[in-house]
Amino acid sequence: MIRLHETIVVERTLEDCYRYLLDFSTSEQWDPGVYRAEKLTAGAPAVGTEFDLLLNSAGRHVPMRYTLKEASGNCIRLLGEGPGFSADDTITLRDCENGKTEIDYVAELSFSGPAGRVEGLLRPWLNRVGRKALAGLETALTRADTAPVQTASQRLAHRLVFPAMPSFTRRGYLAMPDKGLSERVDGKVFAITGPTSGLGLATACALSRLGARLVLVGRDPSRLEAAREEVLAFSGAPASSIDLLEAELSLVSEARRAGEILCRRYPALDGLINNAGALFAERDETEEGHERALAVLLLAPYVLTQVAMPSLKAAGGHVINVSSGGMYTQPLRLDDMEYRQGDYDGAKAYARAKRGLVAVTEYWARIHPSVRFNSMHPGWAATPGVAKSLPTFNRLLEKRLRDSRMGADTIIWLATARCVEDCSGLFWFDRRPRPTAVLPGTAVSSDQQARLIEYLAQTCAV
Ligand SMILES: NC(=O)c1ccc[n+]([C@@H]2O[C@H](COP(=O)([O-])OP(=O)(O)OC[C@H]3O[C@@H](n4cnc5c(N)ncnc54)[C@H](OP(=O)(O)O)[C@@H]3O)[C@@H](O)[C@H]2O)c1
Repeated sequence: MIRLHETIVVERTLEDCYRYLLDFSTSEQWDPGVYRAEKLTAGAPAVGTEFDLLLNSAGRHVPMRYTLKEASGNCIRLLGEGPGFSADDTITLRDCENGKTEIDYVAELSFSGPAGRVEGLLRPWLNRVGRKALAGLETALTRADTAPVQTASQRLAHRLVFPAMPSFTRRGYLAMPDKGLSERVDGKVFAITGPTSGLGLATACALSRLGARLVLVGRDPSRLEAAREEVLAFSGAPASSIDLLEAELSLVSEARRAGEILCRRYPALDGLINNAGALFAERDETEEGHERALAVLLLAPYVLTQVAMPSLKAAGGHVINVSSGGMYTQPLRLDDMEYRQGDYDGAKAYARAKRGLVAVTEYWARIHPSVRFNSMHPGWAATPGVAKSLPTFNRLLEKRLRDSRMGADTIIWLATARCVEDCSGLFWFDRRPRPTAVLPGTAVSSDQQARLIEYLAQTCAV
């Protein structure tokens, strides 16, 4: 048997540390030895809850299942089984006062079969793995004082476009030095559009686990209900913490109605995450006569945000607009917002609308200082939306694409991290601000931004 023992002290309350660690699937955020982790048992973690982990081991992913054996408020004990090894982990928390907590982690590892015969040789390597895990936990539980900035090499890679593209895959997410999502948002109200699959669902799950109250805004009542069930199973939050709001967001009238309902039900709204989106192969118009990509990706978030503004102002809220790296390829086309000229290209229509959304984000940040506005792009994530609209891209990059949680990471982090509380009007990717334009002729000038706002105000009558 090999016994690993590490102790760290973090500037977080004992309760914060306990809640974070009790859901052991958060180990994927802090232990570099864990590739992905899932809570298998629905509801809040308790004695008997099971977690499936995929461990990083010499370029392979080795499965391991943990069961929570003890959860006593300051002690967590987990027993784990993998192929040819088992683990008995005991995490003891001690309140050090001044808001600090000591985390004492003991892992007893036993090996059978061939590994059992060379157990002694594994000890130095396992000690390193244990030290890295606890260093990762310390980082995940340490609040950054300042908002992160782009490094010089990241800035150059993004300016040159192509060098930055590999980071759009899961490689970019996995290379992030801190993947922790430990800042709680208990009782804060976030409305999320497009919460029924992909990034929106992953965002809803994570925010619910961090204590948020959610308004799930979607067009289909049965998919909304299924999303609510999935979020509750993931987070273990009470059913009363999730509200549903039905709205077909390709229609300006529906976006307006949803905004009005939000304002009525939530006079103070802490967050609005404009995530709903799709890419359309053919040009099509909504029953209100708008090109469909423009309607879903730009008109709806514009109207919803404008109408919900009083509630956002009352809470000093945060609007997070989900854009796309595809935006980099296209300029704004103020002369052809409805894409009537030339052959329709769904990817171009999508990119133009996403660029418009980022430009509006910057405008709002300037004129509404009491609300924060940020936009982001998620990289390339394997979601139902990507599988449907870009099947070849999805197949070719299948193994390299992010999963939904990786794609949603920056949305969740922006919604929860205190170090970005003073940031507004920025465009983010992998927790760092990025340039909004890299190709010549694609930047939105202030005159174009003003004309865009005029167009949106006239078209949507808000
Ligand atoms: N995945 C990526 O690699 C990637 C990359 C860049 C940007 N994005 C952006 O990320 C966001 C989420 O995309 P995803 O990949 O997670 O796609 P997804 O799995 O298809 O999810 C899209 C969500 O938007 C909702 N939605 C679509 N049209 C709607 C409408 N007319 N009214 C109301 N809701 C509507 C969908 O609801 P239903 O369930 O009712 O269809 C679904 O909940 C989108 O804005 C997308 O453009 C994704």
